[in-house]
Order: sequence, then structure tokens, then C-alpha cells
Amino acid sequence: MADKEIRLTRVLFVCLGNICRSPMAEGIFRQMVHQSGLDARIETDSCGVGDYHVGEPPDPRAMREAQQRDVDITELRGRVVRRDDFDRFDYILCMDGDNLEALQKMAPDSGQAHVGLLMDFASEDTGTEIGDPYFGNTDNFGRVADQITAGCQGLIERLKRGEASD
Ligand code: 4NP
Repeated sequence: MADKEIRLTRVLFVCLGNICRSPMAEGIFRQMVHQSGLDARIETDSCGVGDYHVGEPPDPRAMREAQQRDVDITELRGRVVRRDDFDRFDYILCMDGDNLEALQKMAPDSGQAHVGLLMDFASEDTGTEIGDPYFGNTDNFGRVADQITAGCQGLIERLKRGEASD
């Protein structure tokens, strides 16, 4: 029997610096993808709308919070969003309204991606935006990770029901 063509769904998580929220989202979502047996079907990446931390590893507080959830994000490195991301990715999901405004400004007319807020996918009422934890204390990272988990849970359920199914 011929192999069935696998349709790859590409998801890009976006925040401001790509060292706190979006790398946590990338790691947490990738773990869910793996646990759902969908590694071959869903590709995950993250980036920032700002270029302050290009090439840097995630913030130590983000790495620690992820590690507490058995998610290793130590190998991730910051990068900035590119115009071709809007053609390469199916979902470009950001953390707050400022990120969204920046993305909408740079989105080319030809872009095929769904550009929106990650929290729009959350089924629980855990807020519409994921606030920047960078200037806050370590506790903020736990709250951010909980919100990200809720958003990613909704996203993976949606993909399992639709785009990522046979
Ligand atoms: P992130 O957090 O957008 O969640 O990665 C930030 C990291 C760094 C800065 C701001 C937000 N910064 O201004 O350097």
C-alpha cells in the first residue's frame, strides 16, 4: 500500500524577546505533540518581534520553570521573526496585543498563516493575553507557564480534531 502523504502543520510561537514566553511555549507544545504521537505531523518553532536577544539561550527563569515541568528548552536560541515566516507557518501565535500589532504590521498580503493570540485557543478562562514576565519575579513564570499550557492544550486538541488528523 502506498504511503499516505503526511500533511505537516507548522506552528510558530512569538513574543517580544524570544527568551521567556515563546521558548516556553515551544517547549511545552513540543512535549504535547510528542506525547500525542504527532512528531511527524507538527513542527514547532519560536521567535521574537524584537531583536534584543538574537542567538541567546532562554532566560534562566524560563528554563527553570520549564524544567520543573520536564520540558528542556536549554538548547533553544533567540531569533527574530522574518517575513517568510508568514508563508512557511500555518499558525503564528503570539502572547499579547503588542506582539499581535507588530506581526500584523509586517505580515505580507500573500501570507497564508493564521496570525493570532495563543490564548484564543484556551478553553479555560485563563486570560486573553500572556503578560511579559521579564521584569517581574520568578512567580510570574509559573503563571505564564500555566497560561501557555492552557493555550497549547486547546491548540493541540484543535489540531487533533482537524488539520493534524488523517
Ligand atoms: P519575552 O520577554 O518577550 O517573553 O521573551 C522579554 C524578554 C526580554 C525583554 C522583554 C521581554 N527585553 O526587553 O529585553
